[in-house]
Order: sequence, then structure tokens, then C-alpha cells
Amino acid sequence: MDDSDAVIRVETGGGAYDVTVGTGLIDQPECFPADVLGAEVFVVTNETVGPLYADRLTAALGSRRITLMTLPDGEEHKTLESFARIIDAMVAARMHRDATVIGLGGGVIGDMAGFAAASYQRGVAVVQVPTTLLAQVDAAVGGKTGVNHPGGKNLIGAFHQPRAVIADVAVLDTLPEREYRAGLAEVVKYGAGLDADFFSWIEANAQALLQRDAEALRVAVCRSCEAKAAVVQQDEREAGRRALLNLGHTFGHAIEVATGYGSWLHGEAVAAGMVLAGRLSGRLGLLPADDAARLENLLSVFGLPVAPPPISADRLLDLMRMDKKVLSGRLRLILMKGLGDSFVEADCPEGEVRAVLHAAAAG
Ligand code: NAD
Ligand code: GLY
Repeated sequence: MDDSDAVIRVETGGGAYDVTVGTGLIDQPECFPADVLGAEVFVVTNETVGPLYADRLTAALGSRRITLMTLPDGEEHKTLESFARIIDAMVAARMHRDATVIGLGGGVIGDMAGFAAASYQRGVAVVQVPTTLLAQVDAAVGGKTGVNHPGGKNLIGAFHQPRAVIADVAVLDTLPEREYRAGLAEVVKYGAGLDADFFSWIEANAQALLQRDAEALRVAVCRSCEAKAAVVQQDEREAGRRALLNLGHTFGHAIEVATGYGSWLHGEAVAAGMVLAGRLSGRLGLLPADDAARLENLLSVFGLPVAPPPISADRLLDLMRMDKKVLSGRLRLILMKGLGDSFVEADCPEGEVRAVLHAAAAG
């Protein structure tokens, strides 16, 4: 690690850990000390990320007993079947309770590796080594793990905080452009939902971010992780404030399910979802039109979708009712009073949501 690396501490009831953000971290043995990793390590990766980074990571892990498991790539594989395959492989490798699982990949691998770690022998340690922008700024931090169900996103899972998160921004060099831009949607989420200054910083640095400028990226990952850590520390299990991290997600998850997992990327669906949340907030007289326009404009600059796919309002609304934020049948949505000023609306009028979806479908 060098002076330009940053460490963000996350303190929760479920565990305290560091998120280290820097360049070249996956090659550095000091990122994986004995108090973070045990003697047995089970690395979960996929067929895309494994060939790029698994050798470098395992070289940094030193003389531990390492088992590498490679899963097929894709959101459509974030299933109970893949979860069962990981558990079967951990049993076959005779992993013990002091083993550590490492998730080497994007949010799909991180969520499944974390869920396997949460379940295996009632819980073993997990270290997240996120390799997408989306996973570095969001999925790897905060302890949400799980898999999808055909009826809903992430419907099966557990809270299980990692022992450490190693966010090496250099590995983002190989990320396909579309995936990179999808990650920018989650960066925008922190500004739009929680931090107006950060939103302005993203606007001012949009071109540097699009060019993957290393310093701009380091700042974006650090500020996003700091924002997420602050919320997770206050509300680890999403009794309240943590729901703010889901700005745009109720719409977005419905889009992901309706289009078939993997067709729209998670970040793309969240981008369109944030626009819809902005329009709904405007319609309810909460969000000034200028703020809604700035949000839509920034997402457009990043080449992200600002409208949902052609799916009926009724179908999307039906899927939104399966969202995990729905309580006692009431639609709970994250709305905005301004950029950086979001709140949980616990009983969103369905007629207004339907009207926004209809208007979007009509173009
Ligand atoms: P992903 O994991 O599918 O990765 C995107 C693609 O990039 C994949 O094809 C992957 O193989 C490839 N890839 C990853 N790293 C690469 C690299 N360095 N170079 C080249 N290719 C690389 O998608 P994602 O956007 O990272 O994650 C989305 C998932 O994360 C969704 O399932 C979502 O539900 C979940 N998520 C979870 C949380 C959480 O709090 N747990 C938060 C946000 C999103
Ligand atoms: N990605 C939303 C959360 O971690 O709560």
C-alpha cells in the first residue's frame, strides 16, 4: 500500500472492517494479513474475471491452502443453484469454520460468495475483492448478500459483513465500457440521494470519470464508500435510513425482472429508476424541475438510460409490489426534495406511480 491509498473504516454490529481503495492492491500481500485471512482460503470468481486476476490474487495470498472456484458469468447465474454449487465445492475442498471466502468479481460474484460465507457452517469469514466499479462503490460494502429468485431480485439472502474490502481501481481498466457506465449510475446515486456537493463534483468531473482518470476514480470510489459506510453504520439491517441507498431501485428491480435478468444491467435499470423517482417526486411537488433536469442530464452524459423499456405500467407496478421495501402491501419508495436530499415515502400513492410509468411509456 502507498500514501495515495485510502482506508475507510466501517463499524457495524455485525463486524468492523476496512475498505482499502488504491491502485495495484490485489498484488500486495500486505492487503491480506493473517488477521484478515485464515490459513484456508476459498476464492469464488467467474470465467471472465478469473483468467484476468485470479493468478495475481493467489500469488499475493502466499502459502495458504487456496481453492479456486470458477462460476459462469452473468446475472442469470445469480441463483440458488449457483449458491448450492459453491457450498458443494466448499464441502468437497473440506473447508473448515476458520476458512475465509474471497469474492473476486463484480456484484454478482460478491453477493453469491458472501451468501455462501454467511451460510457455510452457519457462517465463515468473507473478504470482498470487487472488480467492477459498481461493486467497489456499492455491492462489496455493507454486508448485503444473496441470490435472485425468478419472482424478484435478491429475494433470498442474508446480512453478512465482510472482514475486509480491497478495492483496486487499476482492475477497472479491463472493465467493458457498458459495465463501467453502469457503475457510474451508483456513483450518481450517492450524490443525488445523499450529498449535493458530491453530485456537483460528479458533474464537474464527468469527463475525467468517463476517461477513467485514476485520480477522479479514486475520489469517486472513496466518497461513495464513505457515504455508504456512514449510512450502514447507522442502520445496518435497513430498519430505516439504509433504504435511502435504494434510490431508483424499486423501479430498477422491476425493470430487471421484467426484461429478464442480465438484459438490462443493474446500474442501467437504477439509472432509469432514479429518473422515474425524480419525476414522481416532481409530480408530487417535492423536487424542483431544475434538480430533476440536472439528474437526467448527468445520467445522459454518462450514456445511461433515462427512460424505462417498453413495458406496461401495470406490469412494472405489479413487480414493484414484490420489492423488499414493500411493507404490509404499501409501496415504500425513495423520493427526493432536492439533489442530495432523499427520504423514504412509506405509503406512495399507486395512482401517482402509475401515472409516472404511463407517461414514461408514452415517451
Ligand atoms: P457483474 O458482477 O455481473 O459484473 C459485470 C460484468 O463485468 C460481468 O460480465 C463480469 O464478469 C465482468 N467483470 C467484472 N470485473 C471485471 C474486470 N475487472 N474486467 C473485465 N470484466 C469484468 O455486475 P455488477 O454490476 O458488478 O454487479 C451487479 C450485481 O450487484 C447485481 O446482482 C446487484 O443486485 C448486485 N448489487 C448488490 C449490492 C449489495 O449491496 N450487495 C449493491 C448493488 C448491487
Ligand atoms: N445497495 C443498497 C444497500 O446496500 O443497502
